[in-house]
Amino acid sequence: MAGTKFLTLNNGVKMPLIGIGTWQSSDEEIETAIDAALEAGYRHIDTAPVYGNEVAIGRVLKRWLDAGKVKREDLFIVTKLPPIANRPHEVEGVIKKSLADLQLDYVDLYLIHTPFTVNINEDGSFKLDKDGLIEVDVTTNHAATWVEMEKLVANGLAKSIGVSNFSKDQVARLLKNCKIPPATNQIEHHVYLQQRDLVDFCKAENVAITAYSPLGSRGIAKFNAGAGVVRDVPDLLDIPEVKEIAAAHGKSPAQVLLRWIIDTGVIAIPKSSNPKRLKENLDIFDFQLTSGEVDKLLALDKNIRVCDFAFFHGVEKHPEFTFKNQYTN
Ligand SMILES: NC(=O)c1ccc[n+]([C@@H]2O[C@H](COP(=O)([O-])OP(=O)(O)OC[C@H]3O[C@@H](n4cnc5c(N)ncnc54)[C@H](OP(=O)(O)O)[C@@H]3O)[C@@H](O)[C@H]2O)c1
Repeated sequence: MAGTKFLTLNNGVKMPLIGIGTWQSSDEEIETAIDAALEAGYRHIDTAPVYGNEVAIGRVLKRWLDAGKVKREDLFIVTKLPPIANRPHEVEGVIKKSLADLQLDYVDLYLIHTPFTVNINEDGSFKLDKDGLIEVDVTTNHAATWVEMEKLVANGLAKSIGVSNFSKDQVARLLKNCKIPPATNQIEHHVYLQQRDLVDFCKAENVAITAYSPLGSRGIAKFNAGAGVVRDVPDLLDIPEVKEIAAAHGKSPAQVLLRWIIDTGVIAIPKSSNPKRLKENLDIFDFQLTSGEVDKLLALDKNIRVCDFAFFHGVEKHPEFTFKNQYTN
């Protein structure tokens, strides 16, 4: 089945190379999308409490599992410790809430969503400082949180653990202070933001890279606008070199962007809530890019970060926020 190509993680667990991303999907959209994705052969689902759709995803998973249409061991479910709960004492309670929402006994991979932590009020709204910016919690301690993450593996709530949005220095620091090394670092990675230094370092340390926003997060402009953030969002599907390579293989630009990612040994989690595009994004295992084409795509790097968390107004004040020096727009 197309969706069952894997990358073996540093703990021997096999992770499907393509997963479905679920950010910015309403409950209704996500139910249709997860149904269509499972039909198409996806077994890897990337979610997070922040996306607000774990309950809806859980409903679909339960239907499929109860009907015997899929076995739990064939699914690879990823969720994350949110930035509002990035503290040691919150880890167990928060994963248990996700598991209850997803109607699962364990997740296949649990990630620290961001290297930074933000504060919320009792009602769940962000705490704001005197300037009206989100209040950050500067006590974030990755090593201490990681001890609690490691306990999740020991007590069977997560098969693997990892991080997301961590810089090279943050991964290096964690590697020096852990018993279980992170299985993956989930980062923004696409032809315009290749982060070669970080990617090469993680690979050398046997920390797999998962590419989020692999198609350039085409829907983020609307999300940013809702938060009062103006950013140019380049259309990766319209890059002449990408279109040219796609035409040469009879494939779509999206398929070329995804094939390039997995050809460079990286896992990709494209989001779609459209059944046709979901199938298209998985149908990338019947062609191969030439080394010349791979080089052409490598040369496109522009250090353009699309998902820069500017929608978390004020987060750049956090000492573990490392994106600020990488803005190009
Ligand atoms: N760890 C983190 O901090 C973090 C941050 C961002 C994202 N993520 C994860 O990564 C996933 C993917 O990233 P993303 O959602 O930012 O962006 P993305 O996957 O790069 O792009 C998704 C957008 O592309 C469109 N699309 C999908 N397939 C297409 C195709 N074949 N042709 C044309 N358009 C296509 C989708 O629209 P349709 O739905 O209409 O097809 C959607 O607007 C997220 O959903 C989330 O699970 C994680």
